[in-house]
Amino acid sequence: MQKRTVLLSAAALAVIAATTNTWAQAQPKLKVGFMLPATGTFASLGTAIDNGFRLYVAEQGGKIGGREVEYVRVDDESDPAKATDNVNKLIKRDNVDVIVGTVHSGVAMAMAKAAKESGTLLIVPNAGAAAVTGPMCAPNIFRSSFSNWQPGYAMGEVAAKKGHKKIVTITWKYAAGDETVKGFKEAFEKGGGTVVKELSLPFPNVEFQALLTEIAATKPDAVFTFFAGGGAVKFVKDYAAAGLKKSIPLYGSGFLTDGTLEAQGADADGLITALHYADNLPNKRDQNFRLAYAKTYKLQPDVYAVQGYDAGQMLGIGLNATKGDAKNIQGFAQAVRAAKIDSPRGPFTISKSHNPVQDIYLRKVVGKENVLEGIASKALADPGLGCKM
Ligand code: BEZ
Repeated sequence: MQKRTVLLSAAALAVIAATTNTWAQAQPKLKVGFMLPATGTFASLGTAIDNGFRLYVAEQGGKIGGREVEYVRVDDESDPAKATDNVNKLIKRDNVDVIVGTVHSGVAMAMAKAAKESGTLLIVPNAGAAAVTGPMCAPNIFRSSFSNWQPGYAMGEVAAKKGHKKIVTITWKYAAGDETVKGFKEAFEKGGGTVVKELSLPFPNVEFQALLTEIAATKPDAVFTFFAGGGAVKFVKDYAAAGLKKSIPLYGSGFLTDGTLEAQGADADGLITALHYADNLPNKRDQNFRLAYAKTYKLQPDVYAVQGYDAGQMLGIGLNATKGDAKNIQGFAQAVRAAKIDSPRGPFTISKSHNPVQDIYLRKVVGKENVLEGIASKALADPGLGCKM
């Protein structure tokens, strides 16, 4: 009798083991759809995000939420006119579990609309458009980067404290430029300064000459700017070549000098910017991240790589809580909202509208690095205006 019980138990155990095994094998791969620029002025930013994300996944043994990860990728060309078609390729043709993208604010807004309508999980690893975590916010939409307002506002506070009174702004005419300047102006004018002229040119135009001549004629105390990627390289070089660097201090949101210093060379030396990352943060997490990134890619990481890595971390936190179920948006969101994300930038949390609440650093270019000067704004939260969730 006793022997039979033991035999039955062994058989039952074998069935359980087989079922568990089948379940583990039956977990389909997790399909991650990257929608990032692979061409154009933001191409290198897309590569850094992709690298950072894959590094995180590799550190987890290639699995997130217990599911092996596979990738599909669409080049969005930073072109808002193609954004709806491109994102629908990932949602409808490729049937991805999660979309990770993108860099350009105008493209990101079209992606947020499609994600909101389809319910597909979306993690934005760069684009700072206010709408994404404002009026278009949704339980399935998250950002691992920043809002355009954040570095602009932090730099505006610093510029006012430096005693500048008259500033000219110059940027690309689209959401990222407009919103960064708006943030800067809000803080700078609150601090007693005036933005005397707002100059702009269409994205991704880099014919700066006429606008630089206008800056020279206006003679402001300083200039504030948002440019990134290839456009930032050209702007910094043209500003110096026009002789303005010697006479009119140039400030920027930190994208002006992130991932660009090799190409900008001495023309970037001494530039002061504000951003949620710097190249020499005094934390072990960042030091380990930088070593692993350099070893894997034979490149130094930048802010975009960190944002890609943290998009991976956010996906991991959410999917570990839902045991890999990317359709359980409530469980996913609950876990990410409760988390303190252990980022190379320093720990951050996610606001009610799903944007990082984070320190914004003041940095100065020294050689090939954005060196930490201090904290421009501690635990800065985007106001998330218009978000109803
Ligand atoms: C944007 O379009 O939101 C953006 C692009 C590059 C760097 C930062 C922001």
